[in-house]
Amino acid sequence: MSLQDELTTLRDEALTQINDAADVKALNQVRVHWLGKKGPLTEVLRGMKNLTPEERPVVGALANEVRDVLTAAIAERQTRLEAIALDAQLAAEAIDVTLPGRTVQQGQPHVLQQIIENLEDQFIGMGYQVIEGPEVEEDQYNFERMNLPKDHPARDMQDTFYITPEILMRTQTSPVQARTMEAHDFSKGPLKMVSPGRVYRRDTDDATHSHQFHQMEGLVIDKHITMGDLKGTLLAVAHNLFGEAHDIRLRPSYFPFTEPSVEVDISWHAVTPDMNPEDIEWIEVLGAGMVHPNVLRKSGIDPDVYGGFAFGLGPDRFAMLKYGVEDIRNFYLNDVRFLTQFDQKG
Ligand code: DAH
Repeated sequence: MSLQDELTTLRDEALTQINDAADVKALNQVRVHWLGKKGPLTEVLRGMKNLTPEERPVVGALANEVRDVLTAAIAERQTRLEAIALDAQLAAEAIDVTLPGRTVQQGQPHVLQQIIENLEDQFIGMGYQVIEGPEVEEDQYNFERMNLPKDHPARDMQDTFYITPEILMRTQTSPVQARTMEAHDFSKGPLKMVSPGRVYRRDTDDATHSHQFHQMEGLVIDKHITMGDLKGTLLAVAHNLFGEAHDIRLRPSYFPFTEPSVEVDISWHAVTPDMNPEDIEWIEVLGAGMVHPNVLRKSGIDPDVYGGFAFGLGPDRFAMLKYGVEDIRNFYLNDVRFLTQFDQKG
């Protein structure tokens, strides 16, 4: 076979293999095989030394042409194979954005926290500050400053966890009243605050008692504050929590830190003007009153100039009434099946 024939055969065979190469790696092997130093093309060129001077340029030109053809065919095939590989990769990695997502379980504020935040929002709207006090408290603030000296019988109403004779777990949020009053500068305006938080009593836990529960204290001190202000404020709270149609009722009561003192009831059902008052069912929801002069005096406030009202409400009790929860312990067991029932998002 002449060298020219060999070159054409070689070219055709190489072209077939180039076009058959299934991927870039195979194509590379084909290239090394046909165009490499030990490849058939080099071999042919080496045989040129036996040619006549007339034949040599002709065969040489043909050999160059074959090399160029093969090089171009390899480049073209390479581009094609790369495109195919990219298409395959894109197909494999495609994301179906229409597939439903995996649902992530979201948390939510605890039902008591929801009640507290709702109340805070309302009081902030009425110009109150939200102030937090310590849960480990001094006897001084928890009792003495609230007009409950050491031998006062009303201390028995609040069974106390003492840490030392002078340090205790606060039994009420009322000590925050004293802490706020002593720090308040009346030249800057009246004192209006609410203070939510945990309180502790040495009670045995049952459906209606918990050794730890929540209170929210309220205190307003200014000149010319009346019991009418107190009633209006509490009515607004009742309406917010239970609905506009509910009414409240104030009954005389006793607390050492207020005089007069009242217990506040809310109507269990909507009250209409045509209703017989006897038919209204009242439930007790909080304690309140006009701040006792002794309490003002002990915090350095002149009771002849300033006065005000205070109240203490129980978010736990509010939540029980609002949602018909019969056992206070449910709030503290943190069973998600219970808690997720109060998902605000509905
Ligand atoms: N501290 C009282 C308690 O724990 C609740 C209370 C009643 C707070 C009347 C007040 C108030 O500020 O005026 O039983």
